[in-house]
Amino acid sequence: MADLSVNFAGIQSPNPFWLASAPPTNSGYQIMKAFDAGWGGAVWKTLGIPVVNVSSRYGAVNYRNSRMVGFNNIELISDRPLSDNLREIEEVKKRFPHHAVIASLMVGPREEWHQIVRDVENAGADGIELNFGCPHGMCERGMGSAVGQEPKVLKTIVEWVKEVSTVPVITKLTPNITDITQPARAAVAGGTDALSLINTIQSLVGVDIDRFVPYPIVDGKSTNGGYCGPAVKPIALNMTKNCAQDPGVKVPISGIGGIENWRDAVEFILLGAGTVQVCTAVMHFGFGIIREMVAGLSGYMDDKGFATIEDFRGKALDHVLTWENLNMKYKVVAEINEEKCIGCQLCYTACEDGAHQAIKLTPGSRVPHIVEENCVGCNLCSLVCPVESCITMERRDDGSEHLTWSERTMAGNVPLTFDDPLAGGLHHSVPSPTEALSTPVPRHYGLSQN
Ligand SMILES: Cc1cc2nc3c(=O)[nH]c(=O)nc-3n(C[C@H](O)[C@H](O)[C@H](O)COP(=O)(O)O)c2cc1C
Ligand code: SF4
Ligand code: SF4
Repeated sequence: MADLSVNFAGIQSPNPFWLASAPPTNSGYQIMKAFDAGWGGAVWKTLGIPVVNVSSRYGAVNYRNSRMVGFNNIELISDRPLSDNLREIEEVKKRFPHHAVIASLMVGPREEWHQIVRDVENAGADGIELNFGCPHGMCERGMGSAVGQEPKVLKTIVEWVKEVSTVPVITKLTPNITDITQPARAAVAGGTDALSLINTIQSLVGVDIDRFVPYPIVDGKSTNGGYCGPAVKPIALNMTKNCAQDPGVKVPISGIGGIENWRDAVEFILLGAGTVQVCTAVMHFGFGIIREMVAGLSGYMDDKGFATIEDFRGKALDHVLTWENLNMKYKVVAEINEEKCIGCQLCYTACEDGAHQAIKLTPGSRVPHIVEENCVGCNLCSLVCPVESCITMERRDDGSEHLTWSERTMAGNVPLTFDDPLAGGLHHSVPSPTEALSTPVPRHYGLSQN
């Protein structure tokens, strides 16, 4: 049976699943309930000078039949008095001494940082997380993402915290920046013990087209909020990878962003995360999702023969290269399984209008066919096909050749002029423009315009 326990920068936790700092960690009541359900740790809702919030506060992107694919909030840090939170941290630690309780903090001046760090340590917090990520409200007051976007300021504040802290310090980064490794390196230079990422992405989730106001609406007006939930996972994975691969960032990483099941967690761990944090999925489905997460992760580790999280942490990192180091001799083409095909012809339209005109309609049949010599192996048809494994990408090279853009560049074998004979698409089939007028346009979109 796999051992799920982790030692994250010196913070012990029975499993790598932590609640992210957010409404689910607003009180000791919720955190104890979550620990009881099986969560390994919790990052307390950010503490500082208590705020006053507005209503409403949340907006969502519902996509087709799925609700809250993306979630957005304009909420600030904790609005509860610090003394109440400190008392509850103490209570939680008394009842759950082996679970990880991390205090998320956000204040302004150095003296306030020193004071609040001492306060939460005295209450028994196992670690501190510095919230340099909130992209709304708090940043207008010079805190949150305003700090996360200024590596020098960020480093200074990490140093202030490290002057007094005796427990591990995690710096939580904002994704609202071009290169996440810059603030990550600054945090490391300031002495942080670990990083967590991502906080929310600055966003507007939509506009009420009758009232002409974006969501969420506060007395007829709105403001930009922070985006999270399943939609942000790809951005979070990439930023986690960027930090994990950076030689200047050799500290543990807590992965956050769109995690809602054990598979999501495994992906973050494979890209270098030592723990994962969850917010939106718990706000949507409740603390109970942890049961499936723990069981699923444990089953995956047993299947793969991983005894501990460390056995597979970062295992995908060696497989992420820069583009110029990919093998250009690797060649796949699409193949349609006629038995599985339901004849919707979505693949035909996608390839015809959005790719390389390599799928043709078959006279007398709903099942289209691939013109292999036209196929560039882009994957688009297999992605739009609604039938699982109906279009597969089949390898056509024999694996004997390996050539990268970087090697071609060094050999002087790359296109350098506008009409260079080395252009990659020179010999690809492209119909003449007038052929467009005789090409059928099937009606099958299934997209409602309501
Ligand atoms: C309503 C709401 C409030 C949040 N409040 C905080 C906060 O006080 N401190 C903080 O560091 N992050 C806060 N976050 C960000 C989350 O901790 C997390 O970084 C983000 O939501 C991405 O994770 P998710 O996709 O699992 O939601 C908040 C997120 C939401 C949705
Ligand atoms: S998208 Fe898939 S199911 Fe639809 S026609 Fe193409 S192969 Fe068949
Ligand atoms: S892989 Fe791309 S080019 Fe090839 S058939 Fe599919 S959509 Fe067309």
